[in-house]
Amino acid sequence: RNVKRQTMCRNDINMLNAEFLAIYDLLIPLDEEKAKQKQLLTLLEKLVSKEWPDAQLHLYGSCANSFDFSKSDIDVCLVMEAANSDKSEVLLKLAGILQADNLQNVQALTRARVPIVKLMDPVTGISGDICMNNMLAVVNTKLLQDYVHIDVRLRQLAFIVKHWAKSRGVNETYQGTLSSYAYVLMCINFLQQRRPAILPCLQGMDFTYCLTIDNVECAYFDQVEKLCDFGSRNRESIAQLVWAFFHYWAYFHDYANDVISVRSGCTLSKRAKDWTKRIGNDRHLICIEDPFELSHDLGRVVDKYSIRVLREEFERAAEILQYDPNPCVKLFEPY
Ligand code: GTP
Ligand code: MG
Repeated sequence: RNVKRQTMCRNDINMLNAEFLAIYDLLIPLDEEKAKQKQLLTLLEKLVSKEWPDAQLHLYGSCANSFDFSKSDIDVCLVMEAANSDKSEVLLKLAGILQADNLQNVQALTRARVPIVKLMDPVTGISGDICMNNMLAVVNTKLLQDYVHIDVRLRQLAFIVKHWAKSRGVNETYQGTLSSYAYVLMCINFLQQRRPAILPCLQGMDFTYCLTIDNVECAYFDQVEKLCDFGSRNRESIAQLVWAFFHYWAYFHDYANDVISVRSGCTLSKRAKDWTKRIGNDRHLICIEDPFELSHDLGRVVDKYSIRVLREEFERAAEILQYDPNPCVKLFEPY
């Protein structure tokens, strides 16, 4: 492997700030799209409460944590007691109710790893997935959303990284590359580790929020309005951060030994987590610890082929950012 460890960023890097911010602005959903999402959620709440008065619906995923692009689908979680044993039955019943109300493309995928009902609302044109009793996803969505409020550079960086990953075809978990959720965790951990830090480690502070779900304690400091100038001592621009993010993943991350941990605000060793060897399908070739489900490696989908694809893409991006006269064209070039 031809390793080029740049430690010095090109001196005209800041010429890219305006371009990155323009891309970010274009990707942000319009207020009217967010209003339509709300409208659809209200409709779903009405239909659900007729059948199950005690049930609740929560939005989760990117539509609820500010990492969604324009025209995204919504992810919804139906929460009700007692339904854990007969999830399939509830989802099939829900599918029937949605169909009867003229929602389109309704499909109950009861045998998927995470069983869901898919739907499309012809009035708003929005599609969505509804899963059941997945409160951990609702809470990790809140954690990401709370980090967003601390420093705007998180949302900007994650948009650029997600847009790059989607353009380059490396945001496909079924092909062994990483989920959007994994990329956002990589961005948060990266900003926690800048010096001075741009993000704190909320799970390392005295907690003001605590919820126990499936025996997992989810506790952290969530009064983020008190942290809104946390990152102000660090003046790095978005272009410098994008450059440094890709250089980190191309040349500096220790893939053999390290685990990215948002929970700790640093990296941990694979040995400490006992993630040193393959167990079943968990190969741990790139390790990203879930902030709450600590035994859960979001890199578990990556195999010996896709790790090469990923690392080559990180290196390609790093080289373009360092040497290309017009980096934005190449960086987001469809693969
Ligand atoms: P886009 O759909 O690409 O815009 O991104 P997204 O933020 O919706 O991400 P993604 O589809 O990867 O995941 C949706 C949500 O599911 C995340 O925000 C998490 O809350 C949750 N999630 C995804 N993957 C996992 C996982 O492996 N474990 C857990 N606990 N939650 C996950
Ligand atoms: Mg999603």
